[in-house]
Amino acid sequence: MDVGREKQLAAEAAAELVEDGMLVGLGTGSTVAFLLPALAARGLDLRCVSTSPATERAAGELGMRIETFAGAGAIPRLDIAIDGADQVAPDGWLVKGGGAAHTREKAVAAAADRFVVIASSDKLVERLSPPVPLELIDYGLAATLARLGDVQLRDVPRSPDGGVIADYLGDVGDPAELAARLSATVGVVEHGLFPSAMVSDVVVGRGEQVEMRRLR
Ligand code: A5P
Repeated sequence: MDVGREKQLAAEAAAELVEDGMLVGLGTGSTVAFLLPALAARGLDLRCVSTSPATERAAGELGMRIETFAGAGAIPRLDIAIDGADQVAPDGWLVKGGGAAHTREKAVAAAADRFVVIASSDKLVERLSPPVPLELIDYGLAATLARLGDVQLRDVPRSPDGGVIADYLGDVGDPAELAARLSATVGVVEHGLFPSAMVSDVVVGRGEQVEMRRLR
């Protein structure tokens, strides 16, 4: 299996879903790295927001127009957002955040009318499993870690918003239950479980084929 080729095929297929004049959310990661040139090559008039400094840099080098998504005056909604995933369950639940960008990625996905997930076929799983990425506030960190239980701090820089990156290593079980528990834990900024209700399409590269599944 050529994972890179599968990511490229999925990304190129998703780039075709974008239409002239759209407000576009750009995800983060190695699959999105294939999306950016494919999108730039279409020569559309787009306004984009990025989910990480790395994506902002790469998109800027390709001449894409990146707008701010911060502050009360920023773009309030997006037509489409396209992003990779670490795991995609059959029902469309995702684990994201392998690159620690899940908080911004979720904010962008939630603001988009259509959220398209792009992935190589190895990202398809029968059941979601740990690690589940977390972003935590530093204040009270030791107490937050104690409340969460089976969590390990990740040895990576803080998020662009100052959050501490960690991974929940306990069983995922029912992702909706775990997502609710993590969201309800004081000190957790965001977690990497994305509900299927947020996902519009899953675009998967498999060999030389692309499988496109519309969820909503
Ligand atoms: C970034 O934090 C992640 O959510 C990525 O979207 C996810 O890890 C997929 O990354 P790749 O496209 O590099 O596999």
